[in-house]
This record gives sequence, structure tokens and C-alpha cells, in this order.
Amino acid sequence: MNETASSDVLERYSTVAVIGAGVIGASWTAVFLAHGLTVIVNDPRDDVEAVVNDYIRKASPTLKALGLSTEDLTRKLRFEADLDRAVASADLVQENGPERVEFKQDLWARIEQHVPAHALLLSSSSAKTATEQSVKMKDPCRLLIGHPFNPPHLIPLVEVVPGELTEPDAVADAVAFYKAVGKVPRVLRKEIQGFVANRLQRAIFRECCHLVLEGVVTVDELDDIVTSSIGLRWAADGPFRSFHLGGGPGGFVSFFRQFAPGMEAAWKSQAAVTLDEKSQKTIIDQAQASFAATPPEQLEGERDAKQLAILTALAAVKAAE
Ligand SMILES: NC(=O)c1ccc[n+]([C@@H]2O[C@H](COP(=O)([O-])OP(=O)(O)OC[C@H]3O[C@@H](n4cnc5c(N)ncnc54)[C@H](O)[C@@H]3O)[C@@H](O)[C@H]2O)c1
Repeated sequence: MNETASSDVLERYSTVAVIGAGVIGASWTAVFLAHGLTVIVNDPRDDVEAVVNDYIRKASPTLKALGLSTEDLTRKLRFEADLDRAVASADLVQENGPERVEFKQDLWARIEQHVPAHALLLSSSSAKTATEQSVKMKDPCRLLIGHPFNPPHLIPLVEVVPGELTEPDAVADAVAFYKAVGKVPRVLRKEIQGFVANRLQRAIFRECCHLVLEGVVTVDELDDIVTSSIGLRWAADGPFRSFHLGGGPGGFVSFFRQFAPGMEAAWKSQAAVTLDEKSQKTIIDQAQASFAATPPEQLEGERDAKQLAILTALAAVKAAE
């Protein structure tokens, strides 16, 4: 999107209501403020102002490294404890409340009574579809999923997933909006619980737990194996493009000829993984021993620095193409 198109979109959505300002809502707030939008935060927790301001302070260096202006970042930040008032002037609502479908159903039914008719209604939900969230609404044509990856102020992907009654214009508007705030929106062709990226994470994490619980590797060793291999590979190329290359000059024809039978057999033989109390304790104890001594703020800072370095390096490769 060119700069003019992007500024037109930002003007159209100049006031955003952020509903729920925990891990995800606070990060979205930082993104929207860094793009010059007015953000109205609605969250019943007593310490919401302190939590959000603190999050923005911590996210500022990352936003700056991404090329955004972080000067006077909270100038257009407002807090409104009353939901009806919080959405009354919103051009767009980004919902980040608890992941309970009844909560989201009641919330949208109430929001639609007070939000302007033109407003775009987006849920950050990790798994609950727009169709199930919308069952108590009169007209859900502007409601859809805008599912980010944590932290939204750094990770590019937003999964855009329309519901059965979402109108096509709302999908196009959501894509334009997320592009304008620097994200990489990807529209799913069908609603599915858990969308795509989390389904992949779940499938891989199942095997991670299995390997640790079987004593093949420790939590630390597994993390190291991932970052030194598939993590690096998949930051550059997705699984299909990678395996196309894995097949040599014959691409997937050769790849499947060589590996499909073994892969299919391995899928069939996968045992169930049980996360009962004993299994959880095994993983928790190892994770505590490895990570608990380092303050979360430091771990987050290191994560952001590494991910920024990867994004910057990839952008340089693309620019040189
Ligand atoms: N944590 C993640 O990695 C992640 C990633 C992507 C999407 N999500 C999704 O984002 C949403 C929020 O997840 P989170 O991890 O930020 O949760 P969280 O628990 O950190 O934050 C939820 C916030 O909602 C607030 N809240 C509770 N009741 C409310 C109400 N009635 N009105 C407004 N706010 C209310 C809470 O006070 C809290 O601050 C969920 O739908 C989740 O599936 C989470």
C-alpha cells in the first residue's frame, strides 16, 4: 500500500476502541497510537491505566526500531470504563477480552447498539469464529476476526477471518486497515476453529511435549533444536516451499515419492499425548529451571530484539531482489 492510500485508510479509522487491554489489547493500543490514531481503551480492571502505559513504555523501543514515531505516544490515548461510551465514536473496534464465547457474544450484541453503523468490528480471538461470536447480534455484517500473533506490535501476521454473514466490503476494509498499520493481513478462505497459525503451533507443540515427556530431549534442548533448524528455515520459507526444495530438481514429485510413505506411516503411529498433572509437572519443572531466573521483561526484550533482527534482515534481502 502506498503512503497516500495508507493515510486515507488511517483517516477513515481515526478513532479506535480497544476492548480488553491485557497482553493483546495493550499491544494493539501501542500499534494504533504509533500510527497516529485516537485509542479509547475499555477494560474494567482497576489498574488498567498503569498497565497500558507501562506496556506502551516497554514497547516503544521496538516500535521505534520498526520505523514508527514514538514521540508523545500517549497523546491520543483515552480510557473509558463505560462500554457504551467507549464505542460511541469509534470507527473501528478491536476486541481483546477473555476467550469465552458467551462473553464475546454478549459483548458484540451490546456494542452493536452503541457503535456507529460504519464501524468495523474486529475480534482478536485465537479460536472463536465470527459466526459463533455473532449469534446474538441483529446484523453482524461488519464483524470479523482480526487475529494477531503475540505481540501484535512486532509480529506481522493478522489472520482475517470473515463469518458467514460478514459482507465482502468489511473483509476488504479490514485488510486495508491492517496493512495501513504495518501488519501482514492474510484472509482465510473458510472459518475453522483455531484458524491456521495456532493450529500449526498446536500440532507441533504436541510433538514437542511428546519428545520431552518421552525423555528424548529436555525443554532447553528442544528449543535449541527448533531455533537452529525449522525455526530458521520457516522464517525464510514456509513448509511447502521448503519441502519443494527438499525434493531437489523434481520438487514435490520427488519429495513425495521419497518421503510420503514414511510420513504417512509416522502420522498413523503417533500416540496420544496426555497433559495430565504428572506430565505438566515434568514440563513445568524443566521450564522453571531454565527460564524462571530471568525476569519476564528481560526475556521479552531479548525475544523482541531477535525477532526484529530477523525482520530487518529479511526486509534487506527483499529490497535487494
Ligand atoms: N495471549 C496471546 O498470545 C493471544 C494471541 C492472539 C490472540 N489472543 C486473543 O486475544 C484475546 C485476549 O487475550 P489476552 O491474552 O490479551 O488476555 P488477557 O487476560 O491478558 O486480557 C484480557 C483483558 O480483558 C479484560 N476484560 C475482562 N472483562 C472485560 C470486559 N467485560 N470488558 C472489557 N475488558 C474486559 C481483562 O481485564 C484483561 O485485561 C483473547 O480472545 C485471546 O484468544 C491472545
